[in-house]
Amino acid sequence: MSATSAPSPAIQPVVLARNLTQVYKISRGMFHAPDHLQAVSGVSFSVNPGKTLAVVGESGCGKSTLARMVSLIETPSSGELRLGQVDVVKASGKQRQALRRTVQLVFQNPFGSLNPRKKIGAILESPLEINTDLSAPERAKKARDMLALVGLRPEHYDRYPHMFSGGQRQRIAIARALMLRPGLIVADEPVSALDVSIQAQVLNLLADLQQELGLAYLFISHDLGVVRHIAHEVLVMYLGHAVEQGDKKTLFAQPLHPYTQALLASTPGIVGTGTAKQRLVLKGELPSPLNPPSGCVFSTRCPHVSAQCQAERPALRELAGRQVACHLAEQFIQPAAAQH
Ligand SMILES: Nc1ncnc2c1ncn2[C@@H]1O[C@H](COP(=O)(O)OP(=O)(O)OP(=O)(O)O)[C@@H](O)[C@H]1O
Ligand SMILES: [Mg+2]
Repeated sequence: MSATSAPSPAIQPVVLARNLTQVYKISRGMFHAPDHLQAVSGVSFSVNPGKTLAVVGESGCGKSTLARMVSLIETPSSGELRLGQVDVVKASGKQRQALRRTVQLVFQNPFGSLNPRKKIGAILESPLEINTDLSAPERAKKARDMLALVGLRPEHYDRYPHMFSGGQRQRIAIARALMLRPGLIVADEPVSALDVSIQAQVLNLLADLQQELGLAYLFISHDLGVVRHIAHEVLVMYLGHAVEQGDKKTLFAQPLHPYTQALLASTPGIVGTGTAKQRLVLKGELPSPLNPPSGCVFSTRCPHVSAQCQAERPALRELAGRQVACHLAEQFIQPAAAQH
């Protein structure tokens, strides 16, 4: 310990994003300029070790695009993205290579991502073979230890992926992601393809592993019922924009963005403390991200829409313990909470 009375250093986030943006060019043929599709627009967040940030929103809101940027599959068009101390956008090829070990992806469909011709042992050892100098017996030991850690049995080492159930295959995918001991797991709808009873087992496993290994999760899901079990923080996205984000308990107890309110209202089993006014159901189509509404992105479907909402895009702002991008958010604060 240093002799000076310097304050202890703040916890270093595993990942930090500021104004993260991804724009795709969509070709319109030879004689037209390409369209630009803003899949993620100026999203900011951080995740600390041992914590889970859940990203939620409807299909096409930019969740997987965010996952691909954070897991270094795609480079952001603009904004800042740090993994640990390293600025991913400015990193050299070699630095990015080293960073790839620190963040690993788990996908929705583990069958698609497990090579059917390889035994589980070989699947788990492959990342060690590529990235470490460990001997074959050392690799085998680590693979067997990992099987135990994710709740599989020693004899599974010699079996092929098709011999496992969906839940077991997702355990294998999680085991493979952990072989290089990453600090961050990006899980893109990791339980969406599983039966509800199996979902709970895999979510419990993820929670146990987080405790044991101090893992940070970027957990992507369209299902708030799932998110409720695993998240510490929640980021709600709509058409590429963050519309509300903050502590899970705060958001679930009193969602202030009409979109979060609608998502919660449409999730079975989550009644929350919402008033009848807040239990609304989403109407209308999701606008095309190629042609988003000019004011608030949610204005075409919002039951509270005002002239200001149609004219002016609300910025994300601090309100009642979270960040929310809604001109009218104050009116959704319930009196009891407003007294704080
Ligand atoms: N490579 C790409 N080129 C062009 N557009 C893309 C590309 N990848 C994604 N998009 C578009 O970006 C938007 C966000 O897509 P993304 O896959 O990130 O959404 P999502 O929230 O993961 O949806 P889902 O819940 O269906 O998985 C969509 O409009 C999608 O069509
Ligand atoms: Mg997706």
